[in-house]
Amino acid sequence: MRPFLKIDDATSLHLPRHELALPLFETIDENRAYLRTWLPWVDGICSEADTKTFMDESMAQNRDGTRLSTFILYGERLVGTIGVVNFNRDHRKCELGYWLLEDLQGLGIMSKAAARFVEYLFKTKGMNRVEAQVLTGNLRSGRLMLSLGFQREGSLKQAVFMYNNYHDAEIYGLVKEDWSKRKSY
Ligand SMILES: CC(C)(COP(=O)(O)OP(=O)(O)OC[C@H]1O[C@@H](n2cnc3c(N)ncnc32)[C@H](O)[C@@H]1OP(=O)(O)O)[C@@H](O)C(=O)NCCC(=O)NCCS
Repeated sequence: MRPFLKIDDATSLHLPRHELALPLFETIDENRAYLRTWLPWVDGICSEADTKTFMDESMAQNRDGTRLSTFILYGERLVGTIGVVNFNRDHRKCELGYWLLEDLQGLGIMSKAAARFVEYLFKTKGMNRVEAQVLTGNLRSGRLMLSLGFQREGSLKQAVFMYNNYHDAEIYGLVKEDWSKRKSY
């Protein structure tokens, strides 16, 4: 299947499709305990039927432009996702969401995927600002944002209600004019 975006010889981003529902469920299920630390939706995925529903919803949201979900394939293996969880077209800005399997972290897979995805958002989707909300204490995600040129712009108190607790979050943002100045892109 042709990728939505090719990242490098090993890694590519794919749009939602029904064949990805089972690998997505298996990946989440095997990494449930880890992913649950940082992501609020994990307990809502209990069976392949849930990821099938998620695929259907993602396809509809990609079509109507409210979100943009993509799945990271490393070789043939589904290893994570990256997407826009909220487009604000009035202000030409959007919010990123992403996760990667724990055993494949530290290899630069997400750095490369996110850099390419952000480039797509600025160059092709006409965005002027990309932001991400990172739970306070999620150091890996914060490091990823900074390495991509995002700035930590502030903290939001009890911004996320997750598994019966409120969590503080940090806002990271990158605007197109700062992104354009970065030589590494
Ligand atoms: C956030 C998350 C995606 C970051 O994953 P990651 O593995 O750190 O990201 P990368 O794959 O880009 O790897 C970056 C690391 O690999 C290293 N690296 C190795 N080769 C590299 C390369 N060619 N290019 C870039 N980095 C490389 C980097 O130096 C960096 O190391 P560091 O963590 O010691 O700073 C991951 O921790 C995750 O999924 N967490 C759970 C879900 C989550 O928190 N999502 C975000 C919600 S806001």
